Amino acid sequence: KEIKLFCPGTIANVSCGFDVLGLCLDTTGDEMIIRKVDTPGVKITKIVGQDLPLATEKNVAGVAVLAMLEKLNNTTDGFEIEIYKNIKPGSGIGSSAASSTGAVYGVNELLGKPFNNHDLIEFAMKGEELASGVPHADNVAPALLGGFTLVRSTTPLDVIKLNTPSLLYATVIHPQIEVKTADARQILKSKLRLKTAITQWGNIGALVSALYTEDYDLLSRSLHDEIVEPIRSILIPAFDKVKEECKNAGALGSGISGSGPSIFALSKGEETAHKVAEAMKAVYDKVGVSYDIHISKIN
Ligand code: HSE
Repeated sequence: KEIKLFCPGTIANVSCGFDVLGLCLDTTGDEMIIRKVDTPGVKITKIVGQDLPLATEKNVAGVAVLAMLEKLNNTTDGFEIEIYKNIKPGSGIGSSAASSTGAVYGVNELLGKPFNNHDLIEFAMKGEELASGVPHADNVAPALLGGFTLVRSTTPLDVIKLNTPSLLYATVIHPQIEVKTADARQILKSKLRLKTAITQWGNIGALVSALYTEDYDLLSRSLHDEIVEPIRSILIPAFDKVKEECKNAGALGSGISGSGPSIFALSKGEETAHKVAEAMKAVYDKVGVSYDIHISKIN
């Protein structure tokens, strides 16, 4: 028995929602093949496209599946995993989450679905912990549930799938540099001013409301981050210019995708999303930064 999977990329944080908000990209992702075999345990047999550890305990997909099998007290079933990476680690679009969620989703299917997709989040978080030192769920939750998700709490785990406005598109540009999530977390401040916190939770509340009422103007007004973006943006080439040009091209807003260096913009309608892509490309072509770019409808 084997299963072939598409493992979607994700945008974590979505500006104001550091560690709590995330969304799923339907057109950017990895592929994975998982095979049920006679030898018990989990073996990563192949990783194509990236140089990542094959040892099960050192691989995000491996540790996620091990956590799942342990929960089931399952010592008899065996799985082989082949990973075809399209998402580069350190790109900011949830490379580790794509691997860990794909693996737990696939193994769950092959086992006859002992868990639902919500349950799988907890196992996939083990992969995030291995990758970044922190078991954050804001990439794995949207990868497993689709659309927008909100992590109200990680202990105990409380994840809410949110509504997605019907005309919403994401444009994501990835300047070809690597930013490790662990490093991008290290530079953050551990204290913040009450005034800043008030602005941030005002924005996140409004953003969630806008998703349900499909109020694109409110969504646009809420897509701000006063806490993380000012610090992390220094790691990203021409960040302010890209943001400015996204706005000029009609984007609702833009920000750092996950821990960067990718920059995302949200747009109402596909045409605007393409215009935003052209505007982003023009900035990087001018400053001589090479990039990948993706457009995805958010479903
Ligand atoms: N919320 C995490 C961070 C996402 O920004 O560090 C990492 O992809």
